[in-house]
Amino acid sequence: MKNILVGGQYGDEGKGKISSYIALKDSPEIVARGGVGPNAGHKVLYDGQWYSLRMLPSGFVNPDSKVMIGPGVSVDPEVFTKEIEMTGTEGRVFVDKRCTTITAKHKEEDAAAALSKKIGTTKTGCGPSVTSRARRDAVLMQDVPEMQNYVVDVAQAVNNAKNVFVEGSQGFMLSCLYGTYPFVTSKDVSASTIAADVGLGPASIDQVIMVIKAYTTRVGNGPFPEEIGVEEAVKLNFQEYGTVTGRPRRTSPELHWEDLKFAVQVNSATQIAVTKIDIRFPGNEGKTKFEELTAEARRFLDQLEAKLGVPVTLIGTGPDAKHIIDRREELL
Ligand code: IMP
Ligand code: MG
Repeated sequence: MKNILVGGQYGDEGKGKISSYIALKDSPEIVARGGVGPNAGHKVLYDGQWYSLRMLPSGFVNPDSKVMIGPGVSVDPEVFTKEIEMTGTEGRVFVDKRCTTITAKHKEEDAAAALSKKIGTTKTGCGPSVTSRARRDAVLMQDVPEMQNYVVDVAQAVNNAKNVFVEGSQGFMLSCLYGTYPFVTSKDVSASTIAADVGLGPASIDQVIMVIKAYTTRVGNGPFPEEIGVEEAVKLNFQEYGTVTGRPRRTSPELHWEDLKFAVQVNSATQIAVTKIDIRFPGNEGKTKFEELTAEARRFLDQLEAKLGVPVTLIGTGPDAKHIIDRREELL
């Protein structure tokens, strides 16, 4: 099985939680990360401890899985080595030899650029490193001396493995191609690009899981329909803060159906995972069976499934990897 997980909104859909569950449950040989780079923030609650990750895939929580970063991802060696230490994963974490290296200069450029203000970038050097790559003056990971213990051919490894789980980052509406340009990240982040990011061709992918949060949030500038203020968002218990930047996230209480339908098409989503159903519909905290959900929550999920035409296989009911309803066996 080669499965891909992508974000269906503006990033921060709760991919980390779904990924960590899938890694624990399906025990892939390799959990690989695609996407842009350390601009992404994934929060994972595992064994009572919160981990904030920017480089490593959330699937690291399974000690039997190898953890890999695909060639399409820009890698900040400093962030990478810190996260290995923090997660205690030394010895099973690898990075592709072709990855673009994020340098101090890239980070300075990202922070200084007029763009960082206009777009509200994360200032993590991702955009400038992608620019270097296109200009063909980037430093590749194979040429960074202190990274040699980690460098492998991830593209070969994922093609040779049987069971691979690939985590995308950001979300469809932040795609440089399909999102709200120019208020987007520096690459496309749809499933095809995430596959290419790790070295997989389209025909080798079995399932594409698109993650949607039960309400909509956005961090950074750009168009955002039906936005409400912080006060109202706090009242609804929807107010969130960015993992990487700490900025308050913008909130829109409903789902944006036309955007989601388009995201399903372009990602060729075969499954939907819905997160934070317990936040949108109180009374559903920690539920692990669909039948245990409140009628209102079930109606919402049935409607979502009907509107998008894709089965809702995974439903997040709380922050821990165990707080989930897994209907994959029943629906697929
Ligand atoms: P950049 O990716 O740092 O260049 O930032 C471009 C835009 O994408 C900004 O609005 C960021 O806040 C947003 N962005 C980038 N990565 C993520 C993410 O992982 N989650 C949410 N927003 C993100
Ligand atoms: Mg995030």
